[in-house]
Amino acid sequence: MNLTYFPRRHYTQGQTPLEKLTRFSQAIGGPNIYIKRDDLLGLTEGGNKTRKLEFLIADALAQGADTLITCGGVQSNHCRLTLAAAVKEGLKCRLVLSEMVPGSYNPQANGNVLLYHLLNVEKVNAVPWGTNLMAEMQNAAAEAIAEGRKPYIIPMGGSNHLGALGYIACAEEIMAQAFAAGLPIHHVVLPDGSAGTHSGLLLGFWGNNCHIPVTGVSVLNPKIVLENRIAELMQQTADYMGVNLKIAPDKIVCVDEYIGPGYTLPTADMVDAVRLLASTEGILLDPTYTGKAMAGLIGLAKQGYFKKNDNVLFLHTGGLPGLYANTPLFTP
Ligand SMILES: Cc1ncc(COP(=O)(O)O)c(C=O)c1O
Repeated sequence: MNLTYFPRRHYTQGQTPLEKLTRFSQAIGGPNIYIKRDDLLGLTEGGNKTRKLEFLIADALAQGADTLITCGGVQSNHCRLTLAAAVKEGLKCRLVLSEMVPGSYNPQANGNVLLYHLLNVEKVNAVPWGTNLMAEMQNAAAEAIAEGRKPYIIPMGGSNHLGALGYIACAEEIMAQAFAAGLPIHHVVLPDGSAGTHSGLLLGFWGNNCHIPVTGVSVLNPKIVLENRIAELMQQTADYMGVNLKIAPDKIVCVDEYIGPGYTLPTADMVDAVRLLASTEGILLDPTYTGKAMAGLIGLAKQGYFKKNDNVLFLHTGGLPGLYANTPLFTP
């Protein structure tokens, strides 16, 4: 697919590593697990939002924006990385944070919250869970305009047609790496939140006539809600690119059995998965996204979802600061 028509900033030098997890694969009894290290992307502490922001920030700059406005949960990787991009580009950034538990935004907290301050957040508006976040961001934008600013709103998770372009680029990077290594990839597993990563990756594979199955492990929404959102976002992105691509709905596959009691709430399988990858490979996962997605991969492997000799690629989407905001889960 030709991404050269779309303005892009570059926040990572080169490709992120694609590594074989030999000890981890042995520990779970196969198949052959590989990992795509998008936790090592550029901007503060890396993670999947860096790829989306390359296209979103290019659009903000093209529109002459001087103030970014975005939203997320209290410990939001997306907000942290949007702030990091703002710092890099000399922009200001304001956040709307949705509190799942009333009063849970604590400005003294560790993890992403600590980084919001270090990255010069200009304003934080913490609102109750269930608040219409787009409406809150529009209010923030109106306030910024009244101050003489030019605001640019980035939707939740950077998941729109522009953000998805970042994961089309990732699909092409994975295909190039697999080709260079002579490695056939039989399946990709990734965490699913606001669906932008999954939508872009699947569109990128299909747009290049590469039909690797992709399974998304939901950390938030029921399977059906998520699959419909992915279909919608893939269509919007294909339309934006002027690509005529129809993907059969049965190729959009998510599982929702690994959410546990709810978004950000820990599960025993997540804790085991984080410990296992750390102790076999020295690679860290986060408790909210990649830990639950890896618990999903392990669970699916145990159910025989993959063939014994399949090469299964896990997309590590980052989120590490979340680990440091949840230390009691992992300490003895
Ligand atoms: C570390 C991490 N992984 C995965 C996701 C999910 O990505 P998406 O929202 O594109 O589904 C997020 C979203 O915030 C994230 O922060």
